[in-house]
Amino acid sequence: MSAVSRATAIAHPNIALAKYWGKRADGHNLPAVPSLSVTLAGMATTTEVAFDPSLDRDELHLGGAALPPDAEATRRVAGLLDRVRAASGRRERARVVSRNDFPTAAGLASSASAFAALALAASAAAGLPTAPVLVSDLARKTSVSAARSAFGGFVELRAGRPGDASLAATPLAPADHWPLAVVIAVTREGPKDVGSSDGMRHTATTSPYFPAWVDAAPSMFEAVRAAVLARDFAALGAAAESSALCMHASSIAASPGLLYWTGATVEVIAAVRRLRAQGTPAFFTIDAGPHVKVFTTPEARGAVEQALLAVPGVLRTISAAPGGGAHLASAASPEGREGP
Ligand code: PMV
Repeated sequence: MSAVSRATAIAHPNIALAKYWGKRADGHNLPAVPSLSVTLAGMATTTEVAFDPSLDRDELHLGGAALPPDAEATRRVAGLLDRVRAASGRRERARVVSRNDFPTAAGLASSASAFAALALAASAAAGLPTAPVLVSDLARKTSVSAARSAFGGFVELRAGRPGDASLAATPLAPADHWPLAVVIAVTREGPKDVGSSDGMRHTATTSPYFPAWVDAAPSMFEAVRAAVLARDFAALGAAAESSALCMHASSIAASPGLLYWTGATVEVIAAVRRLRAQGTPAFFTIDAGPHVKVFTTPEARGAVEQALLAVPGVLRTISAAPGGGAHLASAASPEGREGP
């Protein structure tokens, strides 16, 4: 019997400053709009993949619990592993053991770090090349936002084009290009009700504002990109808030309307505007969940944290900053032999 091949990878969530929302209609999991994000230090997914000839199906263990084989997450993981098996010629099933040090599936971008870590660990365990561009494309085929977590710092991902077979994110600037501070206002514990894939499909098929979002998103992306390169905080805040609000407006206008926000989400938006009116640099963005991600400067981080914790409905805050891309923690094949 051949030996077990295993590898462990660590990846970090990213927060989109220019949002991805909606897939192209012609398949291949290609984004309909360009997006730009910052990968975070301070939150991580650690994933071990072990190709094991004794297994008769792929297994997913998330946060210490085994998921059922028919769970949506198990099926998405098996889909990525099928691509790795097809590319490497391996046939063994794999055991995937993953944990997040932050809330899972609550709009905190856990699918981005999860599928970036899985793509890297599975590629390494299978003996495939692990260049970030390849990991990015592999991750993107399962979760578009995960393509960006293959890289650290400020990362862009263009929209898909007809005929694209592969599409990877591209690093725009390293994490130390601009030492922004991020304060996440957590407004609810537990998973969100509607996952992002279902939410964007529902929006694309029922919202009269979806075509308007797809038309408007590229110019917001260009404004975000220019502001990041120029380190222009006010311009970045204006463009990033527009991108988030236009994305959410397209969902709110779906039928039935899809509203990821709670009352506390709106209260945090108001608090960020008050901070700004008082001269504190701050802007917000919101993903497919009720939490609000507030960007500020390292100097103003303490004041922003205090202001957000005082908002009714804010349960706690998480601090983060721009950080590095996905990386291997260990790689060994066959069992016991340490890799690079
Ligand atoms: O790729 P997914 O399914 O994780 O979708 C992510 C969508 C947003 O987080 C809402 C926006 C983004 O660009 O990350």
